[in-house]
Amino acid sequence: MKTAIVTGASSGIGLEAAKKLVSMNYRVYGLARSFSKTKWENEAFVKLVCDVADIKQIKNCAAQILSEAASVDILLNNAGVGYFGPHEEIKTEHIEEMVKTNLLAPLILTRLLLRELKKSQGYIINIASITALKASVFGGAYGATKAGVRHFGISLFDEVRRIGVKVVTINPDIVKTSFYDHLNFKEHDDPESYITPQSIADAIEMILRQRDGTILSEITIRPQKHLIEKRKQKKP
Ligand SMILES: NC(=O)c1ccc[n+]([C@@H]2O[C@H](COP(=O)([O-])OP(=O)(O)OC[C@H]3O[C@@H](n4cnc5c(N)ncnc54)[C@H](OP(=O)(O)O)[C@@H]3O)[C@@H](O)[C@H]2O)c1
Repeated sequence: MKTAIVTGASSGIGLEAAKKLVSMNYRVYGLARSFSKTKWENEAFVKLVCDVADIKQIKNCAAQILSEAASVDILLNNAGVGYFGPHEEIKTEHIEEMVKTNLLAPLILTRLLLRELKKSQGYIINIASITALKASVFGGAYGATKAGVRHFGISLFDEVRRIGVKVVTINPDIVKTSFYDHLNFKEHDDPESYITPQSIADAIEMILRQRDGTILSEITIRPQKHLIEKRKQKKP
């Protein structure tokens, strides 16, 4: 059985991707700080409590996986957090959390697993964001982490393509997940104004089903309509 590692697998995109990968016969190691909200269970879904903003915990998790798994075939760098607002109002600890979770963790985890991914000629799939591609007003710090992870992915693609590793960047626009729970805006109710996490999981399946030698190296997924809903009572 092939092995996939999914960070941020307790909810949203990561959880739907984990379900998809299990349905495709992968054993999935899912990483998150807590799985208390995760109702889904499966014997091929191994929940690993790991704060990816803590390099020591990343190293311990990677070591555990490397000692247990026969191969590492997919690394899905998905865990992420977002804080938005006028830059001077974003807490410095929130900026640090975004940089560590969204950018540093993918760099470190990829570093720790790349040798195995080279052996398996596997996939590294990075969840970046539409904010990596354009100016993001009130989201400069978040967008910077996502532009960083995108740049890392497209650079690594050229570094490792001849060895057989496939590096893929996905840039989702607004996805209906708990990502917005603490924010003062969220997806609009109009179903054409958001993407579902299932659509991202479907894109991952499409990436994995390409014929050998063909890589969908970057995918941008957007809703038909551009609408968001403001929540006045919450502060960024
Ligand atoms: N929703 C959107 O509109 C959207 C658009 C573009 C890109 N994205 C990106 O998509 C990715 C997934 O987000 P989502 O929309 O699915 O939101 P979500 O439902 O809030 O999922 C975020 C996941 O990341 C995990 N996570 C956060 N901090 C972590 C940490 N320090 N260590 C380990 N796991 C951590 C969370 O688990 P715990 O809280 O249990 O640790 C959760 O499993 C993120 O990188 C986000 O930036 C989202």
